[in-house]
Amino acid sequence: MVVRRELLWGLGRLNATTTVLQRARLADPLGGMWEAADVQWWWRRPRATDELALPVWFDEAGPVAAAGLTAWGDTWQADVFAVPSIVDEEEVWAATVEATATHPGVLEMLVREDDARLAALAIQSGFAMTDELSGTTWMDADQHPPVAQVDGFAIVDRVTRADRPHPMIARNGEPVELRLRQCSLYDPTLDLAVEDADGRVAGYALFWFDHTTLVGLLEPMRVEDEYQRRGLARMLLTNGLDRLARKGARRLKVGFETDAARNLYLGAGFVQTSIDRLLIRPAPHEQCGQ
Ligand SMILES: CC(C)(COP(=O)(O)OP(=O)(O)OC[C@H]1O[C@@H](n2cnc3c(N)ncnc32)[C@H](O)[C@@H]1OP(=O)(O)O)[C@@H](O)C(=O)NCCC(=O)NCCS
Repeated sequence: MVVRRELLWGLGRLNATTTVLQRARLADPLGGMWEAADVQWWWRRPRATDELALPVWFDEAGPVAAAGLTAWGDTWQADVFAVPSIVDEEEVWAATVEATATHPGVLEMLVREDDARLAALAIQSGFAMTDELSGTTWMDADQHPPVAQVDGFAIVDRVTRADRPHPMIARNGEPVELRLRQCSLYDPTLDLAVEDADGRVAGYALFWFDHTTLVGLLEPMRVEDEYQRRGLARMLLTNGLDRLARKGARRLKVGFETDAARNLYLGAGFVQTSIDRLLIRPAPHEQCGQ
């Protein structure tokens, strides 16, 4: 039973959303779209939506639902984060849409193909389906593949490379490491890079271990163009999954958007559990046909 609703922003909202998603995962091992680690990964750079005061619902035990808005440039992503069967999803959705009233840009959201109710709520609010599909995959940690090695390359982490600039700075901005370190689930020993024999970074992958849900998530993964198709993603992936299993992860999760990533993850033993579709609401002036 919901006992109160509060407006939260910044790290307070991030931490409350973390708890909501952990409780949702404990209630349903495959439900919903996101892990707590996903919203923590979104925290990696400052965003226009960080300081928005958005509603969070509480029961006696803590946060049970949260409205989600995340700016990706001028496009804002809308999300309903909720522990099933405690708060009506429709109420959370209505509050999320209300909070976008002053946003002049495009809205987007990802909805599982099997979540007809959330898709219907979005369509009623002016969203339309797109053809953009992505997917979610899972694996039991005791099924994780053996660690693969590629000659001439080595795996390092942010403990062993604390003295070097963070490899994600070029794509995510100077404060990326500071922002990641503000996240309760960030672990520098799971923040991996693969280096060539001269110490050049060929790729990186960040793994997240959630002690509450015992889920291990991979987000993001990248091998630089000139190093692709040499087995380096497989080397990062198998090394990270092994570290997650050693830390106590029971289930492993990763999402994909491209065929290359899908092949990589299915080839390592992940099983696809959902197809996810992007829905878009055009900017208000576009809706008027101007
Ligand atoms: C996806 C990505 C990480 C793969 O990196 P990589 O080091 O080239 O991958 P590997 O050489 O380790 O390949 C491992 C497997 O992945 C699959 N794969 C990798 N690249 C592929 C491609 N271009 N097309 C199809 N399958 C591909 C194959 O199954 C491959 O196994 P194989 O070589 O035995 O056929 C890389 O292309 C990349 O960084 N892309 C841009 C960012 C991105 O999409 N990240 C994933 C987000 S979920």
